[in-house]
Amino acid sequence: MYPDRVVSGMRPTGSMHLGHFHGALKNWIKMQSEHPCLFFVADWHALTTHYDDPAIIERSVWEMLVDWLAAGVDPSQATLFIQSKVPEHAELHLLLSMATPLGWLERVPTYKDQVENLANKDLSTYGFLGYPLLQAADVLIYRASLVPVGEDQVPHIEMMREIARRFNHLYGKEKGFEEKSIEAVKKLGSKRAKLYLELRTEYQQEGRDDALDQAHAMLDEAQNLSNIDRERLFGYLEGSRKLILVEPHAKLTAASRLPGLDGRKMSKSYGNAIALREDKDSVTKKIRTMPTDPARVRRTDVGDPLKCPVWQLHEVYSSNATREWVVKGCTTAGIGCLECKQPVIDAVIAEQEPMHERAQQYLDDPTLVRAIVADGCDKARKLAQETMRDVREAMGLSYS
Ligand code: TRP
Ligand code: SF4
Repeated sequence: MYPDRVVSGMRPTGSMHLGHFHGALKNWIKMQSEHPCLFFVADWHALTTHYDDPAIIERSVWEMLVDWLAAGVDPSQATLFIQSKVPEHAELHLLLSMATPLGWLERVPTYKDQVENLANKDLSTYGFLGYPLLQAADVLIYRASLVPVGEDQVPHIEMMREIARRFNHLYGKEKGFEEKSIEAVKKLGSKRAKLYLELRTEYQQEGRDDALDQAHAMLDEAQNLSNIDRERLFGYLEGSRKLILVEPHAKLTAASRLPGLDGRKMSKSYGNAIALREDKDSVTKKIRTMPTDPARVRRTDVGDPLKCPVWQLHEVYSSNATREWVVKGCTTAGIGCLECKQPVIDAVIAEQEPMHERAQQYLDDPTLVRAIVADGCDKARKLAQETMRDVREAMGLSYS
């Protein structure tokens, strides 16, 4: 019914580093040529944890957009925008909040963890509790089917699905839905109509998802259907309700986690990060001074790559041949650590070179980024408004 839209966001809470590139951006860049993609700067989300330090958000927004563009996010393929410029997200969040049980939010696993982990901040706020619901609004408002997220966010997607289902159940009633649906089935033509009804039965009585998928594909292709009828028939497949919001699926990032300079997760707050557009000399210096296997004190001591954070970078950046050279050289003291680090330095610099090049035009002319985002906000807003029209109508809010 709706194109396989992809929605994802990132919080602007500091500059981007190579961990973000390998953990998320690479995946976005891959998806942008396969699906219609909407990528947004989640500034409201950043406020849920940084409400006491909004300056960092303001500073990070444009820098983050330049980083995305530098990394290869292509504005001619993907729609880039800023969450707060599409206030419909907030309206949907509010409306969804009316029928969302508190327990659903309290049960999100990241909730209690984060309140405890970030104990230096008071996160017992209304906004922080509601954060996964705001995230649900971000996705549902575009009727997106795919959300690229990390493993830790899968429960959020599960909750979005429950929210969409509950919404459709509560508000998807339409007077005479059954009759209108039967009329719409007839419009499919007798052959298709028969197939549709068979698939519906298979799905409803045997729970076969493949039947549902096949029916969806058939409806997508049926050209003589109006959008309203198509929507009804999607709803009629699953029950006797109209589908207003679409249940999204998590698209797991093939976890290529890049460790930081000390072997822990790369994070700006650990001081172990390489910025996305770090300059060459600084990259070289940072890697040259990285800790290695602590047992390898002298050049003549043998080492164990498994105890060395440099090895973890080889695992991301080096070919098999280089890795064999490392293992052999390290365990026999045949190579020195600086020698061992050089291929990693070269690979990181090579990876960053096109990023520096792409960033340059945006740094030279900041109005380019402003224009890309203005255009993206317009596009996103139009899509959001379409959904909100249906949502308001379903909830009895379209007075006229
Ligand atoms: N939760 C994401 C993060 O912490 C950001 C985000 C906000 C998001 N809304 C989203 C991601 C919607 C995917 C879809 O970085
Ligand atoms: Fe680490 Fe390489 Fe030194 Fe071995 S040779 S300890 S893998 S830096």
